[in-house]
Amino acid sequence: MRHLLDIDDLSVDDLNEIIRRCAPGAAGRPLEGAGAALVFEKPSARTRNSMEMAVVQLGGHPVTIRPDEIGIDGRESAEDVARTLGCYHAVIGARVFDHDVLVRMAAVSDVPVVNMLSDRAHPLQALADLLTMTNEFGGRAGLVVAYVGDANNVARSLVLGCLLAGHTVRVASPDGFGFSAEDLDAFAGIGGEVLCTDDPVVAVTGADVVYTDVWTSMGQEDEATQRREAFAGYCVDQVLFDHAAVDAIFLHCLPAHRGEEVSGEVVDGPSSRVWQQARNRMHAARGALSWLVAP
Ligand code: CP
Ligand code: NVA
Repeated sequence: MRHLLDIDDLSVDDLNEIIRRCAPGAAGRPLEGAGAALVFEKPSARTRNSMEMAVVQLGGHPVTIRPDEIGIDGRESAEDVARTLGCYHAVIGARVFDHDVLVRMAAVSDVPVVNMLSDRAHPLQALADLLTMTNEFGGRAGLVVAYVGDANNVARSLVLGCLLAGHTVRVASPDGFGFSAEDLDAFAGIGGEVLCTDDPVVAVTGADVVYTDVWTSMGQEDEATQRREAFAGYCVDQVLFDHAAVDAIFLHCLPAHRGEEVSGEVVDGPSSRVWQQARNRMHAARGALSWLVAP
């Protein structure tokens, strides 16, 4: 049974196969006549819509479920929710606050479980990010990817994915908002180069890709003021972006907060590829779902 809880569940060959299946027509229709249960404990624009449309393109029927309709660990346990949904669906996607809920669902599920974002990881986003880099740089190997900001769920999956893909990573975060020792061990387990710094200029200088995400993730709203203060100086504005390589691109998983983690000039500027990246969420979802249900 295949599950996709974070991108390092994949081997390099698996990753390459998913990227191959992201191409138009390459994923087949393995969900013909089948359902996909998509559970959301938090809001979503891109993930819900890209996953629903990917399921349709694979021949299946998506059923999106809100937490109040299902009550994970309230009305019944996460395990029993997974067992129940597996009676009707060929795959279960879940966006949860606590990553451990996904681990518990996957442990008992009769069908593949895919993480649609947890506090730890966002593998479907990382797949779309890698697909965007592949398309934008014509498959060039050994890109330098700079991430500026909170070492959060998106950043963790991005770093793991970039290492699997053979890219070099630089991460700039303020003190207290960088990766944990456990994360650094996971990166070392894959191998490759990760530079962690508190200096955004060091991270961005000469980079091919400059990436950022919100300073306050969903579930951290009561830390927003403290985080805004801690991240002052970490905005990807034009002055910072100009340190990157001449043909560098800007990426952001979205939603973006102009004037906080990125300036409007950068996210809406000529080097930004955020809308190609958002569109690639659907292609990446199709490739990942195809790989999960039709090995
Ligand atoms: N990037 C992303 O996952 O967006 P949503 O939260 O809108 O799904
Ligand atoms: N880090 C953000 C990503 C949203 C797609 C969050 O978890 O809210």
